[in-house]
Amino acid sequence: MAKNLGIIGLGWFANIIARSVAKKADGRVSIVAACDINPEKAEEFKSRFSVKKVYDNPEDLINDKEVDVVIIATPPYLHASLGEKALVAGKHIFLEKPGALRPEELGELAEIARQKNLKSSIDYVMRRNPLYLIMKKICDAKPFGLLERADLENYAHDDHMPPYHWFWDYSKSGGIWVEHGVHFFDVVNWLIGPPIEVRSVNIKRSGESITDRVMGFALHDGGAVVTYYHGFTKPEAFERATFYFVFERAYAEIYGWIPVKLVIDSLVTPEVEEFMKGQVLEAARKFLPGVDVELVTKKIAEYCCGRDQFTGKGKSFRAASRTRFEYIIKQDRWDVYMACVMKAIEDLMDSVDGIKTSPDVTLLDALKSLEIACRMEEHSLKY
Ligand SMILES: NC(=O)c1ccc[n+]([C@@H]2O[C@H](COP(=O)([O-])OP(=O)(O)OC[C@H]3O[C@@H](n4cnc5c(N)ncnc54)[C@H](O)[C@@H]3O)[C@@H](O)[C@H]2O)c1
Repeated sequence: MAKNLGIIGLGWFANIIARSVAKKADGRVSIVAACDINPEKAEEFKSRFSVKKVYDNPEDLINDKEVDVVIIATPPYLHASLGEKALVAGKHIFLEKPGALRPEELGELAEIARQKNLKSSIDYVMRRNPLYLIMKKICDAKPFGLLERADLENYAHDDHMPPYHWFWDYSKSGGIWVEHGVHFFDVVNWLIGPPIEVRSVNIKRSGESITDRVMGFALHDGGAVVTYYHGFTKPEAFERATFYFVFERAYAEIYGWIPVKLVIDSLVTPEVEEFMKGQVLEAARKFLPGVDVELVTKKIAEYCCGRDQFTGKGKSFRAASRTRFEYIIKQDRWDVYMACVMKAIEDLMDSVDGIKTSPDVTLLDALKSLEIACRMEEHSLKY
């Protein structure tokens, strides 16, 4: 049966969510109610997305009998309290990240949802991207051995965020690690599990009170070292993000915060080559409805006749070639972004409709990534 969504917080991201829902338009979900404390935003949203009812008080939306699922897209400090109210009112919830400012709050939300048999999820879009699915396959099946290193370089934009924006206010956003870093902690948690140690440096903008750059280090079980850099210092038109992964027998690089290209430079056997061209590509192509993945491979070198034996980290292995795999998404990154948001909503709906017992991404995942963000804050040198 079609489900009715109600959305609270009608800012930039609520518009992306509503566009994602409108784009799909298969009748499975529709936004019937919307709420913002700013009545102008509410009216604008109402006319842009033909929403039946708008409210200026979140509790009115939460108590609207027609609403089955409450989406919370306010600034972070309101996520947990609004989420709790929605669950208590018997609504399923879809939280924008981080979902809370303290991990315990997410634990409490998960517990209320469990007791009331309601479903809940969080909008970790990177998990929905086929290129990260490829990374997951590689981390699970280990065709290139163990992960040794990963490095995120995220040069994000701040041109829409003046100094009074809630993003810079720790009491409202939780800071960069909590507000934004959680996306990347969640992906790495999914790929290889949580870190055992973290440290970071938080750097204030020269002469100002806002922290606009953070650099963190995480050591994982098995020895992988992951570093994360986030700088909110660029104009939007000039932002850049790359996530680099080094395995025993491969270098992999993901381009873009909403990635559309993954390049892997690797030493492979014919079996590994077959795996990357077959199973892995096939899974990626089926993963995100409406988004296709192409693969271009290039042999950089071929090895035979006794020259196919290599040693690294004290281990010997055979490789028939050095091969470059380039997985490319041709769609525009905004279409990919919206497809990821819609997949997250549909994942929640599958659990609401009993097609699966739980969504693929849960509040427990949100809790784990938020815990790491809070540890980064706690163990940070502040400049
Ligand atoms: N998943 C993603 O990829 C992604 C991307 C961007 C933002 N986000 C998240 O979305 C959330 C919103 O971010 P944004 O950029 O849209 O912010 P925004 O400032 O553009 O929008 C927030 C809206 O919430 C409204 N609001 C504030 N207090 C309210 C209240 N008590 N009741 C109702 N409405 C209230 C504001 O008036 C504003 O319209 C944040 O948690 C952010 O982290 C997620």
